[in-house]
Amino acid sequence: MEDGDARREQTDRDRYADGSSDATARIVDARPEPLDDEEHRIEAALRPRKLADFPGQTRVRDQLALVLEAARRRGTPPDHVLLSGPPGLGKTTLAMIVASELEAPIRITSGPAIQHAGDLAAILSSLTEGEVLFLDEIHRMSRAAEEMLYLAMEDFRVDVIVGKGPGATAIPLELPVFTVVGATTRAGLLPAPLRDRFGFTGHLDFYATQDLERILTRNAVLLEVEAVPEGIAEIAGRSRGTPRIANRLLRRVRDWAQVHGRSVVDGDAAHAALALFDVDDRGLDRLDRAVLEALCRRFGGGPVGLSTLAVAVGEEPDTVETVAEPFLVREGFMLRTPRGRAATPLAWQHVGLTPPPGSDTPTLPLGGDGRFGA
Ligand SMILES: Nc1ncnc2c1ncn2[C@@H]1O[C@H](COP(=O)(O)OP(=O)(O)O)[C@@H](O)[C@H]1O
Ligand SMILES: [Mg+2]
Repeated sequence: MEDGDARREQTDRDRYADGSSDATARIVDARPEPLDDEEHRIEAALRPRKLADFPGQTRVRDQLALVLEAARRRGTPPDHVLLSGPPGLGKTTLAMIVASELEAPIRITSGPAIQHAGDLAAILSSLTEGEVLFLDEIHRMSRAAEEMLYLAMEDFRVDVIVGKGPGATAIPLELPVFTVVGATTRAGLLPAPLRDRFGFTGHLDFYATQDLERILTRNAVLLEVEAVPEGIAEIAGRSRGTPRIANRLLRRVRDWAQVHGRSVVDGDAAHAALALFDVDDRGLDRLDRAVLEALCRRFGGGPVGLSTLAVAVGEEPDTVETVAEPFLVREGFMLRTPRGRAATPLAWQHVGLTPPPGSDTPTLPLGGDGRFGA
């Protein structure tokens, strides 16, 4: 296990070493903080290890339980598993649970760490029978590696190319049967042939407040924080349906209580602490509010294109799209329409403006993951 932890740290570093994910330290950014060892350590300690201890996501959890149980009874490794959904909802946690429920070893790596097909070949050829291969951010693997992965997932073999040019030969290499658990925040970006190799796909959605309360109550005990239900409810209500954010807010509230000499986290303490960190009562932070302000004040409620909107708030389009937008859309602040992003009446209210007449007749929202033509 220590081995696995070391490897995970390595891949987490690789993941951000390419500079493609920025490291803005927003308290409600559900992506893990890249180089924060403290956060990694605490997250590892708080991860539930069994499916039965994993609150929320009941549908995915029950389906996964069935898939794993059936495999266990057959005595064979289960189908490959794809987990998709916004950051911080438990994809990595579930991947580890899959391995621990199967009592199988787990190898952890991520798409950006696999730049060449050879990187993947090296990993695949060192897998043991029944091992779980966790591929985080699988949509960011190189094309060549993706193609090698299809074959490996289907036929459990890879063709290792030896030599260059006309003299190059492909030497087939048999692999042990293994299980890929892929995780992605952007299922829509996976090429269909790769997506089709997964026998089971689970889409994680934001958590209900009461599930977050259960998670927080358990974690408060683990972190030795004494919290009453009002304090827990206050934190849960501002966590954007996201356990990673809930855990982070819990730690900041604990800090606040300690510094202010409170031994118990109650509603007041939670309220005061979260106000200090600019998290409002709907869980929106400065970026979310900036997005809504820009939509309403600068673009008259939209629709406006993602990149224009991102420039207006001084962020990368990817950050606006994967961090701010899913929650704003889900909470009914914003619509994704074929012509761009649009404010809802709730958005106008939230920034303290009166919605213009006609803004409550929604322009046709996009289905699925909101990608045009998807
Ligand atoms: N259902 C859950 N129950 C308890 N804790 C959870 C749950 N889902 C996520 N967490 C916690 O939230 C944090 C982030 O989860 P993680 O699995 O890393 O998310 P993802 O990989 O989807 O970004 C971890 O500390 C984990 O313990
Ligand atoms: Mg993860």
